[in-house]
Amino acid sequence: MANSTKDLFVFANLDGQFAPAGQLSLDEEGSNLIASSFAYGLRYLERSNAQEIDPVALTLKNKDEIRGRRLVPPNGLEAFGGIRDAAPDAWGRRVIEARLKVPSNSLPESTYLLEAGSDRIGALDIRSSLADQERPAHETIHNLSYLLDGAQKIEAGLPVSDALARILVAGSGLGGMRPKASVRDDEGILWMAKFPGNNDGPLDIPSIEYATIQLAELAGLNVAKTKLEQVGAKKILLVQRFDRSWNTASGPIEIRHHVVSALTLIACHESESPTKSYMDIADAIRRYCLVKKIKSDIEELYGRMIFNIFVSNDDDHLRNHAFVWDHQLKGWSLSPLYDVMPHAVIASERYQHLGVGPQGKLSTLDNAYAAKERFGLSPKDAMQIIDRIWRVTRQWRVHFETLGISDVQIERIAPAFRHIDAICSSDLRKLSLTSAASDAP
Ligand SMILES: Nc1ncnc2c1ncn2[C@@H]1O[C@H](COP(=O)(O)OP(=O)(O)O)[C@@H](O)[C@H]1O
Ligand SMILES: [Mg+2]
Repeated sequence: MANSTKDLFVFANLDGQFAPAGQLSLDEEGSNLIASSFAYGLRYLERSNAQEIDPVALTLKNKDEIRGRRLVPPNGLEAFGGIRDAAPDAWGRRVIEARLKVPSNSLPESTYLLEAGSDRIGALDIRSSLADQERPAHETIHNLSYLLDGAQKIEAGLPVSDALARILVAGSGLGGMRPKASVRDDEGILWMAKFPGNNDGPLDIPSIEYATIQLAELAGLNVAKTKLEQVGAKKILLVQRFDRSWNTASGPIEIRHHVVSALTLIACHESESPTKSYMDIADAIRRYCLVKKIKSDIEELYGRMIFNIFVSNDDDHLRNHAFVWDHQLKGWSLSPLYDVMPHAVIASERYQHLGVGPQGKLSTLDNAYAAKERFGLSPKDAMQIIDRIWRVTRQWRVHFETLGISDVQIERIAPAFRHIDAICSSDLRKLSLTSAASDAP
């Protein structure tokens, strides 16, 4: 198969306007990406509000070192993490393929990058020439039913009209596997709509994800803002975009914040995600995040790990942890929590996707507690976080009922929620009881 080199232009949205950030070259062999290189534009490097494309290989910390240089991805990877995070993931690829009427995964990476549209996650847009214009690509929140219909057809491999396909391609720049689209409400706020999937079976996944995110918030975690919408007989989860903020002081200007995944910070290939751990993410936070946020971000990460253990969210891979660019502080910090879905397994011995502690992925509090030093936590701090999360997750049924989740759905998801005695040795439980006055539900 013939090799070809594609030269693309990366734009970054700064203070509400796209500016050329640099030139990306991709070496491709058919649908395989072989290598990438990138050079920041000289004018971009002069901008005081420039956002880094990624903190590992494309950092702006030492501008003198990178001026005029072509940079390559770290660790022999074929793609830059910060660019891969701006590319469509499994769902977005299916939508683009449906519109272009081609088989799954048959397109070169450059085509997926170009097709994803300007409303993609983060602050970047990828265009084929400097003269290309922005392609805003969102629908109004009033068209959820139309979008749901289109998403179901695409998932089933059925044809959709070109007009609908174009609208859904708009949402193809959102990552992840589940069907979704980008929608704007009447105030101009952008949301990610997550639809029920054709293969969800009897589980009402949007409602359960919604209730679980609310539960995490009650447990003191920093979560994305969510709403649940009823469309016909189906529920749709709306998650407010945390990669956008709205500056209303000088008119409603939408500010875009670049987003990179933990996969990018750890600088590994996606296939290596199951070999990594929460401790690797903590190390990456120390290395790449804003100094004043390091302690609180690592504590929050520990809390999320404990929460994921209690609710059996075992889809906690490296792309389900993200970091957002802060324009004021000019650096990265942990994003709000998203994509938490309890997994109703029956096994008593359970495992997380990522490593938890010295016993690897084993999903127990003993394993997590034994790793506390790697998160900079004292025994008391770690125990307080565990107690705080348990005090809320033990009441999950009441919270789910209050949020309107039906009894049938509650019963279906119940096996996911773990009692502390199932995941905690009696020795550790005694310690926990002395640090908090709570007991079993
Ligand atoms: N509220 C949000 N704002 C901005 N980006 C988000 C938000 N929620 C998720 N993302 C990004 O979109 C991707 C897909 O969302 P996710 O909820 O993980 O979908 P899926 O269930 O299909 O994996 C995530 O990996 C993350 O990069
Ligand atoms: Mg996800």
